[in-house]
Amino acid sequence: MEQQKLKENIQKLKEKLPVTIVAHYYQRDEVFELADITGDSLELARRCKADDNEWVLFCGVGFMGQSVKVIAPEKRVAMPKIACCAMARMIDQKCYDDSVRFLEEHGIKETDVLPITYINSSAEVKASVGKMGGMVCTSSNAYKIIEQGLESGKKILFVPDRCLGQNVANMMGLRSCVIGDGTDPNEADIICYNGFCSVHQLFTVDDVRFYRKKYPGIKIAVHPECDPSVVAESDFCGSTSQLIKYVGELPEEQKVAVGTEYNLVHRMREKNTYVLSSTKPECPTMNETTLEDVYTTLKAIEKGAVPTEIDVDPETREWAKVALERMLAL
Ligand code: 13P
Ligand code: SF4
Repeated sequence: MEQQKLKENIQKLKEKLPVTIVAHYYQRDEVFELADITGDSLELARRCKADDNEWVLFCGVGFMGQSVKVIAPEKRVAMPKIACCAMARMIDQKCYDDSVRFLEEHGIKETDVLPITYINSSAEVKASVGKMGGMVCTSSNAYKIIEQGLESGKKILFVPDRCLGQNVANMMGLRSCVIGDGTDPNEADIICYNGFCSVHQLFTVDDVRFYRKKYPGIKIAVHPECDPSVVAESDFCGSTSQLIKYVGELPEEQKVAVGTEYNLVHRMREKNTYVLSSTKPECPTMNETTLEDVYTTLKAIEKGAVPTEIDVDPETREWAKVALERMLAL
């Protein structure tokens, strides 16, 4: 079906079904444009919970749809594509348990550790964190959540994104390490798991220097999933919503190069906005969802048989909810 026809059919189905379409900022333009709710990970989790419709049709990556099901189990959540974030895939239950064991082998008892997981992780990992007294964070509240976690007087085990963990540690002037980097975790306040986002690794210090040389006075704004060396040379670091706000408030003539996913950067501002990379930084999994998938999923909801409905087993849900709600309460 051609795109215009697809859009019309989607609109018609939307009007007759109890469905709210939700899209993360990294979705393709044509999908993003038809969403009722858009936002960063934190905003989407909050707003889906407060939404009245029976169904949430979530255009994003797997952990985002799962998080809605965890915090609002009464809702029915469908994803046009259950695409799994590459970073979230880097840690499972076993890797998490191994990390806790690694700390124990270095004399750091489980009771002396407060785990914090980035929302980019599976419900199973969130549940393990919840059971150990820990909580979830997103890129927009990581500083606040880690600051709160440190009040316990414990060391923080931060999973799975080593960059976000280290960037927050640097902002706070704290010591951090990455599991397996050969340093002693006893010397660190924040011990990071060795996960990362392959898309945000595309932005390098060379890119920052290239743009600064080419356009003297340019601002550099990056997402905290970027390497700490890149963040150190940038003017601003923030979540997707925070980047949108920062760029939106710059004077029109101010040039800015942005280090985050392409779909968001190119729709941020018409003029004087550059992608901070010579390689197109596309998130393969975010880009998997197409208009065709949205249409097919709406048709499935209409028929009452939805193969891509999200479910999380009750025990996992219970503990993952504890970890997510500790974050939402802050
Ligand atoms: P935000 O929470 O900033 O939207 O980030 C989600 C994400 O996956 C970034 O790569
Ligand atoms: Fe995951 Fe990176 Fe894609 Fe974000 S950009 S969804 S962290 S793979």
